Amino acid sequence: MSHVDVLILGAGAAGLMCAIEAGKRGLSVTILEKADKPGRKILISGGGRCNFTNLWTTPENYLSANPHFCKSALARYTPWHFIELMSAHGLSYTEKTLGQLFCDQKAPAIVAMLVEECQRVGVRILCAQQARDIQYDARFAIKTDDSYFTADNLVIATGGPSIPKMGATDFSQSVAKRFGLKTIPFRPALVPLVFSDADKARWFNGLSGIALPVVAECNGVQFRENMLVTHRGLSGPAILQISSCWEKNTPITINLLPDQDAAAMLNAAQETRPDKHLHTLLGEVLPARLAVRLCEVLGLDGPVKRLNHRDIETLANLLNGWTLTPAGTEGMRTAEVATGGVDCNELSSKTLEARRQPGLYFIGEAVDVTGHLGGFNFQWAWASGWCAGQAVGVVRQSDMTDG
Ligand code: FDA
Repeated sequence: MSHVDVLILGAGAAGLMCAIEAGKRGLSVTILEKADKPGRKILISGGGRCNFTNLWTTPENYLSANPHFCKSALARYTPWHFIELMSAHGLSYTEKTLGQLFCDQKAPAIVAMLVEECQRVGVRILCAQQARDIQYDARFAIKTDDSYFTADNLVIATGGPSIPKMGATDFSQSVAKRFGLKTIPFRPALVPLVFSDADKARWFNGLSGIALPVVAECNGVQFRENMLVTHRGLSGPAILQISSCWEKNTPITINLLPDQDAAAMLNAAQETRPDKHLHTLLGEVLPARLAVRLCEVLGLDGPVKRLNHRDIETLANLLNGWTLTPAGTEGMRTAEVATGGVDCNELSSKTLEARRQPGLYFIGEAVDVTGHLGGFNFQWAWASGWCAGQAVGVVRQSDMTDG
């Protein structure tokens, strides 16, 4: 049996950051990690280059039942703080589109940096230690398969259930429930959308691999990015983004020509190029195979001059507002993250400590804060971990007066 000031469950992005900060404050800190090495999701992130933050992070880049909750942590630990940490370790980055920063030395360098920081401040990282049972009686008692730990403070940094084959689970929710905290069910997010066989046969078969810039919209939320047709349905950044807002039986709308008024374009073509074949005309602004498919599905082809007003209206509606209802998502199997988690109203937004259970903290993806695609999820993990790391072990004023 060993006793520590702070026991952290999960050596992912949030847990490692929290450990570093708590360790800097002179607390004894141990991390229990169920996998055989720390930071496995960091290692596979961003195609192995880790999109570790986004320069344009704002609270609006996050989904949560309480959209104000993430503000405090994001304001206190910004992308620049993480960049500063990287610079101190000689790591550099490249900005891809839309403020997304990737590590030039690749994802393992980020994990190595965090582990080195942990070692510097005396944090113990114990791998192949899956927390199974948690009890509380004046202090926290945690059992793994072969060990027993006690701690004055317990930080749940076990992430979400996406990619179960990596061992991801909803462990954090069972801990929250065990302490009487409300939770919001996890749902797959940043995940490809799948369609019925009928929709696939009609729209997508044979088009797998086509990518184009679109504006995708769902439940009033819009994203302008690339869309990719797959053999199961739709993917690509625009689709992954709206998947986080998608609910069963809800249609999505895709503007295939986000920079053009399709009706005006078709009317102009009737004037200036009346003999042009419709699929050739559309092939100038869309991938050729998609242009042919749209013409086939609508039963329209031949020279543009043959289109009547109704044809133009139908085609323009499709081009500027293609509406489809996904049958579902690819699920946790391929989801990059999960929405849901511990209800933010159960936690302090400044410290991430549970209001009902002093000494118990939830950070990272375990909390009902889910970022858009593009580095925002790691920024939340760093920021929430950092805030908990500043606060853990500090006796709350209310606890002192209560006592
Ligand atoms: P995280 O999942 O990182 O860590 C939780 C840890 O807890 C794991 O190591 C797990 O093994 C451990 N654990 C679980 N249960 C346990 C138990 N009972 N006992 C002990 N340990 C336990 N985000 C981003 O911003 N940029 C990107 O480029 C990407 N790319 C990306 C690619 C892919 C394929 C995925 C799946 C995800 C991403 N993400 C991302 C999302 C990002 O990885 C995610 O938001 C963070 O890793 C969340 O950090 P946490 O520390 O909260 O959980």
